[in-house]
Amino acid sequence: MDKFFWGASTSAHQVEGGHHNDWTEWEKKNAECLSYEAQKKQFPWYITQTFPNPHHTENYISSRAADHYNRFKEDFDIAKSLGHNAHSFSIEWSRIEPEEGKFDEKEIVHYRKVISALRARDIEPFVTLWHWTLPVWLRDKGGVLAGDFPKYFERYAKKLAESFPEVRFWMTINEPEIFSRHAYFIGNWPPQKTGIINFYRCQAKLIHAHRKAYRILKSTNPSAQVGVRIDPLYFEAPSWPTSWILKFFADRVWNFHFVRHVRKSLDFIGINYYFHNRITWWFGKNKNKSTTDMGWEIYPEGIYHVLKSFKKFNLPIYITENGLADAQDKNRGEFIKNHIKWIKKAMSEGALVRGYFHWSLLDNFEWDKGFWPRFGLVEVDYKTMERRVRQSAKEYSKIIKENF
Ligand code: BGC
Repeated sequence: MDKFFWGASTSAHQVEGGHHNDWTEWEKKNAECLSYEAQKKQFPWYITQTFPNPHHTENYISSRAADHYNRFKEDFDIAKSLGHNAHSFSIEWSRIEPEEGKFDEKEIVHYRKVISALRARDIEPFVTLWHWTLPVWLRDKGGVLAGDFPKYFERYAKKLAESFPEVRFWMTINEPEIFSRHAYFIGNWPPQKTGIINFYRCQAKLIHAHRKAYRILKSTNPSAQVGVRIDPLYFEAPSWPTSWILKFFADRVWNFHFVRHVRKSLDFIGINYYFHNRITWWFGKNKNKSTTDMGWEIYPEGIYHVLKSFKKFNLPIYITENGLADAQDKNRGEFIKNHIKWIKKAMSEGALVRGYFHWSLLDNFEWDKGFWPRFGLVEVDYKTMERRVRQSAKEYSKIIKENF
């Protein structure tokens, strides 16, 4: 078997700290008027979980996050000590291009150091261009729906490709469907637009942007491998033909839509797996025997079905995210073990899985939910910024050693 990549994933906004982008501005507003109670009122059907300390506004402001911007070497030392041979992270667009068309060389040097620090530890960097946050100038032009968004994205991609020729694995966009859903359909993320038309306009822009970025990344560095990270669900249709019909459309509209439209501009598919959805006469009848701190069902078998359903694209697959909020670290070890067991089964039946990245290396800022959900293999004390390796990280490390 080719070298299998084992590691964990992070995103710039969730761990670096010290940002100024569309989210940081929105977070302040969100903290004041959209904290837990208000969110529940606005989205009663959507917000089902219980938040500890819902009224602490500082929970909702990313601020220093996990201070990874200053502590990346220490964090990579931990990843190395756990046996990781790859790491997935994203670059913050608002750092690279804080003003329209003006690139900040100092930040490019910073990310060069990040990449070298990984290479020095024999850890392969998997780099995402965009994990949802926008420079403020771009937000002011209309964000993703701006007429020229694909061109801006292409220019940014070109700058990154030229600045970091040593990167072999690029991923253009994180979860275009989740972003379109929350920012342009439900409207609980910035810029809080709603409706099905906005949802599809957003997806269309991201498809266009991906294709352009793919072309420029490949022409700058033909040996680079370029993919996208999507978030497919396992739609289970246990009962009658009507649920099979629903499953057919759900798979098509949610799981395969993006990949089908960019199929010719992909060297691999990044899959983030979190959810199962059991269809009876409608969606969402999960048994929820075991759930995460956020009330999400734990259903490892789903990853097997998702992987099998993506076999038809005949492309290498990396599991670019898979994880859970589990502050007490009660379920994480088993969660990892069981998901890997099902991945292995899918591989034995022909799924081309080439790597697994747990979400996340560190506790981090969970978007509109703030800091309370704890996704890290490594616990972060947000007061002192001290790191503590969780027991489950050591269990994951044992799996890595066995390498299947
Ligand atoms: C996102 C991450 C997020 C994770 C847990 C994924 O969909 O890419 O940014 O932290 O889910 O909610």
